Amino acid sequence: MEQANHKIEDRKKEGIMITLNEQVQAKQASTLLECVSFIHNALPELNFEDINTSTNYLHHRFSAPILIDSMTGGTPAATKLNETLAKAAAEYGLGMGVGSQRAGLKSEALAETYKVVRRAAPDIFLMANIGGAQLAENLSVNDAQKLLRMIDADALAVHLNPLQELVQPEGEPRFKGVLKGIEALASKLDVPIIVKEVGAGISAEVATRLVKAGVASINVSGLGGTSWAGVEQIRAKAEKITRKAELGEIFWDWGIPTAASLIEVRKAVKVPLIASGGLRNGLEIAKCMVLGANLCGLALPMLKHAAESFQSLCDFIERLELQLMAAMFLVGAKDLKQLSRARYVLTGELLQWSNSNKVRRAK
Ligand SMILES: Cc1cc2nc3c(=O)[nH]c(=O)nc-3n(C[C@H](O)[C@H](O)[C@H](O)COP(=O)(O)O)c2cc1C
Repeated sequence: MEQANHKIEDRKKEGIMITLNEQVQAKQASTLLECVSFIHNALPELNFEDINTSTNYLHHRFSAPILIDSMTGGTPAATKLNETLAKAAAEYGLGMGVGSQRAGLKSEALAETYKVVRRAAPDIFLMANIGGAQLAENLSVNDAQKLLRMIDADALAVHLNPLQELVQPEGEPRFKGVLKGIEALASKLDVPIIVKEVGAGISAEVATRLVKAGVASINVSGLGGTSWAGVEQIRAKAEKITRKAELGEIFWDWGIPTAASLIEVRKAVKVPLIASGGLRNGLEIAKCMVLGANLCGLALPMLKHAAESFQSLCDFIERLELQLMAAMFLVGAKDLKQLSRARYVLTGELLQWSNSNKVRRAK
């Protein structure tokens, strides 16, 4: 058990170091948010300072629809980062997720790397995190409750990462029984379950099955940002596991682009949605809101700024908010409800994705 924990700890540290120092984002693919254009409003009839970006998500108030997406913990290298991320979330009234807490279940010392978040931010909306594959394997309801208590979480995020498990040197691509595991937890836990991908997107069909299983919200986390096939490719290459390295190279850009995933999931289900995967500025956040998101998550950019300094992270969040408000001003939306009704145009490849869904459904 201790040895297994050591391995998880090393892997978590490598995950941070590789994402911070190497090129791990999509190579040829993108979120396709560049295929969404707002219609400019030359007569906004509102003052910039009156724009309000606040919103509610799962009964929690957010000052802006921005989430620091699930990332880290499970290695001492994560403690300071988690603390910095949490302080910024508290400062700006945002929400946050920790990384997979499997390591924290097995070691009290590693549990501390997650607990620091709640201490730094007593009031934020905070998500616990576990892999779907662990639900199929052996994670009991009791264990899930421990994860929640560890950080006094408001929700449990369950990540689905079949691509990452395939490419990861020590990966376990065993997903039989995951939906049943999710269903069991949804019926027994007293906090909402959010199911998320980690960068390959959620389809309309998967979303429908998840909502039927009792999931309260979905984070599409689509293609266009951090590629976990990419991160694991780099690890496999370093460990000279050539077949996995090759697999990671071939599937680096696999997935449903974030904008396409958001459009089809929004058509399929009514639960609140988080857009994430490759969001890098406030205009992209505005575009996701008009496509039906309730919140927008950013992972890698938040980590990079947190690694630099608290100040750098705060500055980044303020710039995101300014950019979001600028988009709202230019479409004449004084709040997020009005933004969600703004007129926009879909072009190019995104239009094809969106039509392919219609064609399939018409059959
Ligand atoms: C360093 C790092 C660690 C991550 N660890 C987790 C994790 O433990 N659980 C999870 O659900 N997602 C994890 N993610 C995935 C993110 O939550 C997000 O879905 C993905 O990175 C896409 O967003 P981005 O392009 O903004 O990075 C991690 C991302 C990063 C960058």
